[in-house]
Amino acid sequence: MYHAGIIGTGSYIPERILTNHHLKEMVDTSDKWIVERTGIRERRIAAEDETNVTMGVKALERAIENSGIHREDIESLVVGTNTTEPVWPSAGGHMANIMGLRKDLPFFDVQAGCTGFNFAFSIGEMFIKGGQYRTVAVVGTDKLSAITDYEDRNTCVLFGDGAGAVILKRTPHEGIVRSHLGGNAKSRDLLLLLKKGGAGNGYIWMEGRKVYTFARRAMVESCFRVLDPSGTAGKKELRALFEQVTKIIPHQANARIIMGAAEELETRLELPPGEAKNKMIVTIEQYGNNSTASIPLALDISLRTGKIKKGDLVIMVGFGAGLTYAANLVRL
Ligand code: UT7
Repeated sequence: MYHAGIIGTGSYIPERILTNHHLKEMVDTSDKWIVERTGIRERRIAAEDETNVTMGVKALERAIENSGIHREDIESLVVGTNTTEPVWPSAGGHMANIMGLRKDLPFFDVQAGCTGFNFAFSIGEMFIKGGQYRTVAVVGTDKLSAITDYEDRNTCVLFGDGAGAVILKRTPHEGIVRSHLGGNAKSRDLLLLLKKGGAGNGYIWMEGRKVYTFARRAMVESCFRVLDPSGTAGKKELRALFEQVTKIIPHQANARIIMGAAEELETRLELPPGEAKNKMIVTIEQYGNNSTASIPLALDISLRTGKIKKGDLVIMVGFGAGLTYAANLVRL
């Protein structure tokens, strides 16, 4: 087994801002309700001619620049996304063409709801640890505005667009410690695309409350599993492992889910109040839930603003349609 690490990050968010005040002109809602129930004040919406592919390209170009590699060094491209239109050929191939990546590059999309980035990241990790490739690009990119029903107040206040990318590379020392991937296929009907009239892939529909309950529990479980894969650690041992973690980068779905998961971590590990909450990175206020982009975007912003730095131990943890959930434990 080889070691793998993150050597560069990048992200892209569209210019257009959709605020809570804009939304209250569109559906029966209020800024107060949205802020109190979700923590979101605004989200970014892609232009007509922007897609998951064009946003992914911009994020990946920035990650390449940040890592100091040449684009020809990339040996594989793994894209977490849910909004490729038409659904095939893949967004990865489209991105590779636009960017002029190497001719024989293998590329593919991973479709695991909002957990798609964590799954794609874990595949990239395994490619490197197994010795198949030395340099892998992993992208999370979604244009959720294309599948959001702006007449449904239960969903349209949550979602936005964006992209994030990381470059993974074989490294002399351990960077990516491990990943945990989870699923609950029986709950697939809680979050899906419903056709509403004619064309397209349909619009997001969900049982918000049930997804909320699942998310809080699943994120905590995944944090535990990535710290203690065998599940044999006692409370004291698990707490000691958790205390080594500098920050948690959760999927930005709802600030209450994030803080609820933190409270549960504090209860189950008997931590002083605030200890897990203070570790949570929250970017949702400005960007909403942009699905597979939310974690790599928060990672990139946090590195660029100094909230986290090289050497820190972070957990990236998410959940999404499927239902799926996952976490990646990484020494930056
Ligand atoms: O990436 C994964 C994607 N999914 C998620 O992350 C969703 C997870 N779920 C959630 O984040 C929350 O469940 C929501 C934010 C979607 C909803 O918050 P909630 O606290 O679970 O509210 P609720 O669904 O229990 O609804 C409470 C009330 C209802 O009215 P009644 O029946 O009590 O009269 C809703 O109709 O709030 C109403 N409501 C709204 N009111 C104003 C629902 N949406 C809105 C809205 N504005 N936008």
